[in-house]
Amino acid sequence: MSTHVTPPRKPLIMGNWKMKPALLADAKTIVTKIGKQAGSFRNVDIVLCPPAVFLSELKRATTSRKIMWGAQDCATRREASETGSLSPAQVKSVGAKYVIVGHSERRALGDTDEIVRTKMDVALAEGLTVVVCIGERVRDTRGDYLQLLNAQLISAFKGRPRTELDRIIIAYEPLWAIGKSAKEANVQPGDIHEMMIFVRKFFAERYGKAIADERVVLYGGSVEPVNTRMVLTQGHADGALIGHASIVPSDFLSILTIANERT
Ligand code: PGA
Repeated sequence: MSTHVTPPRKPLIMGNWKMKPALLADAKTIVTKIGKQAGSFRNVDIVLCPPAVFLSELKRATTSRKIMWGAQDCATRREASETGSLSPAQVKSVGAKYVIVGHSERRALGDTDEIVRTKMDVALAEGLTVVVCIGERVRDTRGDYLQLLNAQLISAFKGRPRTELDRIIIAYEPLWAIGKSAKEANVQPGDIHEMMIFVRKFFAERYGKAIADERVVLYGGSVEPVNTRMVLTQGHADGALIGHASIVPSDFLSILTIANERT
């Protein structure tokens, strides 16, 4: 198995706000606080994925050009009579460049590997950058969880031309860590590093080592200021997808500070 040397690219720190906060006014307060300092994090790329209904207003609420924007999900079709769905074209039209697909919380609501693949396809066709999430519910000693992750990767990438890869980010998010505090989840560096190697190996076998090394692979699940350094250094993740800590401005700014200083 090839060992991965952390590439010199900037860490990508993404905030996944999920369904929070309830009020637009509170969302604006969060973005304003982050936006005021965002420009000082020269060594980090920042993407915020607030509830899509807030996107336009939040873009206007901050003058920071450092913050890039994303949606948390999208529909499987570009246009359709589909009540309640959000098309990739709509995501793009409000200035978002990214879309998360296959988050475990969407998979729990019915998104199969096939649906995730289709969402990736329509989002890519629209010119968005896709953040595809993979992750196992539990770990076992036989390594069955690796089969599951492999199946998720195969479904997402089978037959995908190399040219599309630059607009796809992989987020490894184990379900057993999501939504917990860093202390409670107690994710170990090896848990992350092992999966970074696993994902890169998947790409190395299909596209070659050089292309595998260029992939951006994030870690997500219980990332807080206290474990950010571990995730990015010993864990060898190229960045992090942050849930609960991303809507607490002081926590998110601490995470950005640590990522900005990654050594
Ligand atoms: P968490 O969520 O940081 O609250 O664990 C991460 C995610 O679900 O993307």
